Amino acid sequence: MVKGHVQIFDTTLRDGEQVPGCKLDTQNKLIIAERLDELGVDVLEAGFPISSPGDFDSVVKISQLIKKSRVCGLTRAVKKDIEVAADALKYAKKSRIHTGIGTSDSHIKYKFNSDRESIIERAVAAVSYAKSFVEDVEFYAEDAGRTDNEYLARVCEAVIKAGATVLNIPDTTGYCLPHEYGAKIKYLKENVTGIDKAILSCHCHNDLGLATANSMAGVLNGARQIECTINGIGERAGNTSLEEVVMIMRQHPDLKLDTHINSKLLYSTSQLVSESMGMPIQPNKAVVGANAFAHSSGIHQDGVIKKRETYEIMDPKDVGVTESAIVLTARSGRAALAYRAKKIGFELDKLQLDKVYIEFLKVADQQKEVFDDDIPKIIEACGL
Ligand code: KIV
Ligand code: ZN
Repeated sequence: MVKGHVQIFDTTLRDGEQVPGCKLDTQNKLIIAERLDELGVDVLEAGFPISSPGDFDSVVKISQLIKKSRVCGLTRAVKKDIEVAADALKYAKKSRIHTGIGTSDSHIKYKFNSDRESIIERAVAAVSYAKSFVEDVEFYAEDAGRTDNEYLARVCEAVIKAGATVLNIPDTTGYCLPHEYGAKIKYLKENVTGIDKAILSCHCHNDLGLATANSMAGVLNGARQIECTINGIGERAGNTSLEEVVMIMRQHPDLKLDTHINSKLLYSTSQLVSESMGMPIQPNKAVVGANAFAHSSGIHQDGVIKKRETYEIMDPKDVGVTESAIVLTARSGRAALAYRAKKIGFELDKLQLDKVYIEFLKVADQQKEVFDDDIPKIIEACGL
């Protein structure tokens, strides 16, 4: 059993905005940032200030606007990046610089043409420099998922000594299995001197569909921050989905893990991000997809009509969805038809329902879905 508060670090406006074709202008970013603040994210990664003048400007404006969340800016382990990020964040009520460098052998050799010791030196220099601007410095060990644990522990130890307050352990390529990622966090908890001075953070990508599972494995093994995005958007197959991890912790009180998120705003926030980015949500997306609370097979519909909990582990109202949907298709049964007919004012007795149901199936076999508008016509065709 693990206990504790898990910080939600939202990176919709940074990692999420790296999605091809989903670039947002500053105005849209401000609207989303304000909503994320209201949602209750602890940290809001507003952008990568050195990347473009537009991104710098967005980080400045978000810093000026945000009231509660800590505003964060990304940098590489490069002096100029850190100076620019510090400048962009100077108006924030609470700020954080997120700096880091690749630590896997593949990144060290192919990206940096360097060696392990020199990478530690660069990491320490970056954290120390960031610390000269802000108190709160998060360090990311890029590709930590494929970094050897012993070396990763040495990197973490060195950056904590330099003042890092948060250690981000990204599974940058989405390669880890949940038990491996969990074991990595546990290893760092147990083997890094000074680990009590810093928070371990999970930043998991979804290349194998394991981002949420890996983040949960991380917090179950002692991490206390999850980096995530609305609708799970992000590089390639995306990041950990904010709404998923929040609802997992909420629906499993036995885990004794909680967040500050107002879950009732999840659905509308998901819609806002999807519309602003022009990025549709897959209908079967957990928590916020159009079908997340829709029931179409007769057996399930009958159960949900009798007692919602038979086929739903979450109350749709808890995520801001008004009610569960009973969708009429050729797989629906009499209970669903009677339920929907009653909702629009037709109370059918057993004999009437038997008659209408036969007609209903004919229509349902022709159409993918039977809508409220079709029901009176079906009833009329039965001479009722
Ligand atoms: O996936 C990753 O490693 C990142 C870092 C820049 C934090 O996004
Ligand atoms: Zn990432």
